[in-house]
Amino acid sequence: EEPRPLAGRRAIVTSGPTHEPIDPVRYIANRSSGRQGHAIASALSRLGAEVILVSGPVNLPDPVGVLTVHVERAEEMRDAVISSLPADIAVMVAAVADWRVAGTADQKIKKQAGEAAPALELAENPDILKTVGHHEKRPKLVIGFAAETQNVEDNGRAKLERKGADLIVANDVSAESGVMGGDNNQVKLISKDGVEAWPDLPKEEVADRLAEWITLKLAKL
Ligand code: C5P
Repeated sequence: EEPRPLAGRRAIVTSGPTHEPIDPVRYIANRSSGRQGHAIASALSRLGAEVILVSGPVNLPDPVGVLTVHVERAEEMRDAVISSLPADIAVMVAAVADWRVAGTADQKIKKQAGEAAPALELAENPDILKTVGHHEKRPKLVIGFAAETQNVEDNGRAKLERKGADLIVANDVSAESGVMGGDNNQVKLISKDGVEAWPDLPKEEVADRLAEWITLKLAKL
């Protein structure tokens, strides 16, 4: 029997990309496999937490023991997260599209010979992490991820402040890092206590260590 130090705690985790429709057959999206977010949901659940995973479209099974809510768009993800409050822990791992397409077409946009290519007008999506970080039902621990290709620490620190988070888990997703869709992740934990750099680890190991970090932190709050 494993110890269940998070028994009685409730956690909301977001994972995967969001898909923002252009028309019924096309969308724009960020790159995200959902592997890290799903692994974190599993790890928290194994430690006894009641976990709600709000996932964008991914090719992964729903983690065992986790209530998984499937969404497509950022606005749907925001609604699912907010209606899952209150919670003790929020871990926002999803790669949410910053913009959606304004004025989504109801019918497939047809390619017409001789006509100019259509221009997409974009509208800003809600920032789910920032909304949760400043919410009246703000969880005791709010954690965000930051996929950066440069200035990982500086950007992480700025994000911590702006989003109202307790921790930003920053990773270098530049092409050379191989993180995108890969097995491993090399992260830096940025909090008001400073920066903790972890070695290159399998995403499951990052998830287990983060769940342990969360357990220790919650015990002190
Ligand atoms: O600003 P940026 O997208 O780099 O921030 C990353 C963090 O914010 C991640 O935790 C991500 O899940 C979250 N986020 C969000 N909603 C958005 C954009 C980012 O929850 N619209």
